[in-house]
Amino acid sequence: AAEYDFVIVSNRLPVDRVTDSDGVASWTRSPGGLVTALEPVMRDAEGAWVGWGGQPDLEIERFENDGIHIIPVALSAVEIEEFYEGFSNDTLWPLYHDVISSPAYHREWWECYVKVNQRFADAAAAVSAQGAAVWVQDYQLQLVPKMLREKRPDLTIGFFNHIPFPPYGIYSQLPWRTQIIEGLLGADVIGFQRVADAGNFLRAVRRLTGYQTKNPVIEVTSSSERPRRVVARAFPISIDASSFEKLARQPHIQERARKIREGLGNPKTVMLGVDRLDYTKGIGHRLQAFGELLAEGRVDVQDVTLVQVASPSRERVAAYMQLRDEIALTVGRINGDFATMSHTAISYHHHGYPRDEMVALYLAADVLLVTALRDGMNLVAKEYVASRFDEGGVLVLSEFTGASDELKKALLVNPHDIDGLKDTILQAIAMPEKERSSRMRSLRKRVLENDVARWSNNFLKTLEQARASRYDRL
Ligand code: G6P
Repeated sequence: AAEYDFVIVSNRLPVDRVTDSDGVASWTRSPGGLVTALEPVMRDAEGAWVGWGGQPDLEIERFENDGIHIIPVALSAVEIEEFYEGFSNDTLWPLYHDVISSPAYHREWWECYVKVNQRFADAAAAVSAQGAAVWVQDYQLQLVPKMLREKRPDLTIGFFNHIPFPPYGIYSQLPWRTQIIEGLLGADVIGFQRVADAGNFLRAVRRLTGYQTKNPVIEVTSSSERPRRVVARAFPISIDASSFEKLARQPHIQERARKIREGLGNPKTVMLGVDRLDYTKGIGHRLQAFGELLAEGRVDVQDVTLVQVASPSRERVAAYMQLRDEIALTVGRINGDFATMSHTAISYHHHGYPRDEMVALYLAADVLLVTALRDGMNLVAKEYVASRFDEGGVLVLSEFTGASDELKKALLVNPHDIDGLKDTILQAIAMPEKERSSRMRSLRKRVLENDVARWSNNFLKTLEQARASRYDRL
């Protein structure tokens, strides 16, 4: 079997195995920001992608999909429960997002996390050529760098954390906090979204290990290895910005945007929310603010409609089931109270849409509301900006997103401050055209310059430097 010089390892493959009602299986594109960001990188690199196909017990040989070499890793139903739904999404996810929902700590889940991480590490070791670069992605696989280095000291190993890294006071709750830090430190370069995330990580390293740190470098020492230098710093991720702009410029997408507005009864203002249905996204806060504005008569349902797209996510995890019910209840209540025969208050969609339709929605929306309570980056904010080649549209953006470090010309909000959020929404609705376009112009400059190609180049260049300086020391 072939070996590859460049290997990406992530929990989810860029393609998901789906089976339709007739039992016919096929591969479709996976959800989420990670795949959106890495797909274009991989297409150019001719490397291999190691990951899970999204269904239990998929024992499938490697294959090629749309130019990407796919190396499937199988997970059993129990492993999906304990490794993916359990430790990844009911322990680490809430812990790393400021305990918005409380993390559950179960030793069996941890043990399964170790076992599954080892399987990913073994799969990556088996397909990597001598001296290859391996790039491990995200919180589901934090032990892989160390496991991989133990098997294959010849490799150069990168790790990128797509979600926040929490302050030590929160991180230290984790019963396995030291093992995770040691797992990550198997990498040569560890990337984070925000400067603050890298700072939190370096503090955790100082508190939990005896290693010397000199920002951004950690000197890892152990009895079994010669000392190694690990770089930990921020590399804010982005999107393939020009592909959004290109789509938005197509006449049929613009026509579709007009049709969407028409379908909503041509209100003066269309506001939009687009999220995976996740408690980190602050969808409830957004609905509350909009509901109060309607109740107080500060916005009129004839004039303003909110379109909320919430794509289904992690539906077997209890916190997500509960959120789904809460949001449906709130939407129903607001529509029940305020909708008229001709105008709905909230147009709610509990499903994903293809990219064309999303870009049409971005063009149709006068205001995009991103009110996340905590978010590693938030690529939806960047997609909106990239799509608005007409310099129309206002971005309302939570300070608790990684994107807010860069997108300073958005209307920045604290979503916990409902009164402040309401005022900002009104400001967005009433913004004069001149201010709108000048803000959007500056946002666009930023997003189009710092696209995902630059992100991966920066990371991989740093990884290459790490490799070079390592060989110097041998
Ligand atoms: C976020 C995470 C990704 C994850 C995606 C979708 O973007 O950072 O690692 O793949 O959500 O979540 P899922 O649990 O469906 O993979």
